[in-house]
Amino acid sequence: MTPRRIVLIGFMGSGKTTVGRIVAERLGWEFVDTDACVEERAGTPISRIFREQGEKAFRDAEALVLEECGTRARLVVATGGGAPAQARNRGFFSTGAIFHLKTSLATARERTRGDTARPLLQQEEDAVRVLYDGRQAFYDELGIPVDTDGRTPLDVADEILGLFRNPSP
Ligand code: S3P
Repeated sequence: MTPRRIVLIGFMGSGKTTVGRIVAERLGWEFVDTDACVEERAGTPISRIFREQGEKAFRDAEALVLEECGTRARLVVATGGGAPAQARNRGFFSTGAIFHLKTSLATARERTRGDTARPLLQQEEDAVRVLYDGRQAFYDELGIPVDTDGRTPLDVADEILGLFRNPSP
């Protein structure tokens, strides 16, 4: 049966939110950005949650949002870059059509230049690289790869819709 949910995963700056909105609009499905949901519920930005309550508090809130998304259909979900690396989110990532928006670290850096909203990008360059490298195995394991380097969000969304409508056997 065709999955009733599309889930986008990938590193920060891979375009999950922008692409997800387009895919949802084309399908006439709802769109959820889990980061935005966490912020809305907490009534405070993610950067502040990290700063004042620590990463664990953010991961708890993120896991709750994902769990709820897992009960809904006709939904496109843009997940936070760290969600697939959390063992507790395994259940959520075991259903739906999951696409990995593949992005080189250089491109991710370029797209997030000057960004202050993502606490994990405020670290030293080496630490960001370690994070990036460590995440790839999770993304590769869970998602159908879709390249994003040098491509527009529309182009990436088109590829996802094509793969979703005509999945390879
Ligand atoms: C994070 C990615 C962010 C956000 C938080 C932590 C991560 O989401 O969830 O800052 O651990 O990679 P985006 O990937 O949407 O930027």
